[in-house]
Amino acid sequence: MWQVLLYITGCLVVMLGLLVVVKGWQYRQGFGWCTSQASMEGKVVLITGASAGLGKETALDLARRGARVIMACRNLQKATKVLEEIREATGNNLVEVQLLDTSSMASVRKFANNFLKNEKRLDVLILNAGIIGPSKLTFTDEDNEITIATNHLGHFLLTNILLDLMKKSSPSRIVVVASLAHAFDEGFDIDNLNMKKNPYPGSLKTYSYSKLCNVLFTKQLTRYLEGTGISCNALCPGVVGTEIFFKGSWNILWLFYGAVSKFSKTPLEGAQTIIHVAVSEEAETKGEFYDNCKVTDSSPLSNDLVLARKLWEKSEYLVDLKPEERHY
Ligand SMILES: NC(=O)c1ccc[n+]([C@@H]2O[C@H](COP(=O)([O-])OP(=O)(O)OC[C@H]3O[C@@H](n4cnc5c(N)ncnc54)[C@H](OP(=O)(O)O)[C@@H]3O)[C@@H](O)[C@H]2O)c1
Repeated sequence: MWQVLLYITGCLVVMLGLLVVVKGWQYRQGFGWCTSQASMEGKVVLITGASAGLGKETALDLARRGARVIMACRNLQKATKVLEEIREATGNNLVEVQLLDTSSMASVRKFANNFLKNEKRLDVLILNAGIIGPSKLTFTDEDNEITIATNHLGHFLLTNILLDLMKKSSPSRIVVVASLAHAFDEGFDIDNLNMKKNPYPGSLKTYSYSKLCNVLFTKQLTRYLEGTGISCNALCPGVVGTEIFFKGSWNILWLFYGAVSKFSKTPLEGAQTIIHVAVSEEAETKGEFYDNCKVTDSSPLSNDLVLARKLWEKSEYLVDLKPEERHY
């Protein structure tokens, strides 16, 4: 009897394994690839969080296309090693690293004002830096919740300060690296962007909220940018095997990563949608959401224009946007 059971169990395990392999293979066939050969010579690209993962791959590709790439990173030592790799691989010595911590509005202001002093144009701004924050509720020195500050508020302020330069450089593009996780929005409270109301929803929920903020920001900014020659689009790079899963204190993410890593994208594959939206002639869209290099629907809540407007106002308040920083 037990031999029959063992045989059936064995068959089930083999079938399940085959199913996983087939489904994983099918998922991999759906990966989008940027086919544009567009040259970026003479263009200035600013990318946040280029010291690892998707940002690093994107910086490498844009450097290959001849752009002057400014890698805005929080860890200069780590980023300088990546810079050397990129210069060596591409022969492009216009690539540079500069210090930027997107969780600190003081750092964003310092970086952006220096940028305005030193650069004559900005053609592509890629808002990529991101974290899945610590499992315990954590605030920055400026009293902002750290994930919302890093993934949304810092980018909100940076974009606002650089907007005038981007208008002068138009046609120019803003690329917002969001995530399909933006759709896990249950419990999102626009009056609780600082996560001060009890109970704290946890780091994964807060990450999803920060990515919802990325998409809402894209929608509202698109309205403000009408007639300026600047486009703004958001995207999901897919599930990509990067350091982001190991930096938070969530061990469960290790398990998740272990389970999906066989079929998840490599950073090179994940970067394709970012590169596509940044350079492709096919991506001359405004206010869209991309997945696998194609326009797709974002969640219903991310299309709520009243909410998008409210988020903009709350963000202005939280970063204390000054009149001279407002260019829309
Ligand atoms: N990986 C995925 O499956 C996935 C899926 C959907 C969306 N995304 C999004 O893709 C973007 C890139 O993530 P990734 O997967 O490439 O992760 P990653 O490998 O961890 O890279 C994140 C980058 O952001 C930087 N960063 C983090 N906090 C920063 C801060 N306060 N100031 C400046 N830079 C900061 C990191 O710097 P350090 O090197 O110093 O840590 C690193 O360069 C994120 O916005 C993420 O939400 C990723």
